[in-house]
Amino acid sequence: MENKELIKLAEKAMKNSYSPYSNFKVGVALLAGSGKVYLGANIENASYGASICAERVAAVKAISEGEKVFKAIAITCSKGTACYPCGICRQFLSEFGDLDIIVSEDGELVEVEKLSNLLPKNFSAKDLE
Ligand code: THU
Repeated sequence: MENKELIKLAEKAMKNSYSPYSNFKVGVALLAGSGKVYLGANIENASYGASICAERVAAVKAISEGEKVFKAIAITCSKGTACYPCGICRQFLSEFGDLDIIVSEDGELVEVEKLSNLLPKNFSAKDLE
């Protein structure tokens, strides 16, 4: 699966964003270990705090379908500027491997960055041993 294809799928996913409060749409395409791609969009809530980011929507879809690791995630947002995953999503994703974060702007690739470079010294299972 090419980065370009994942970006296209992330743009498609963004169309299903439910974001009436921020009007900020986010779409992602997550490539999991099996080779399957899981789409996600941010889903907001009137209570604000119950909102969930696009990255975690895709991640819980994948894990609950039996995936064990993630390879890459393409992220797009409606602002037309490069979007990086928020801190909570970085931590959440780091549980399932050091995946490639594919950052795009207006459908064009900006950069590919390893999650470990965006979240160095992450808290992990090792810390609980
Ligand atoms: N959002 C995401 O979906 N992913 C991020 O990594 C950052 C923020 C969403 C949450 C909220 O619905 C909107 O963007 C504005 O914060």
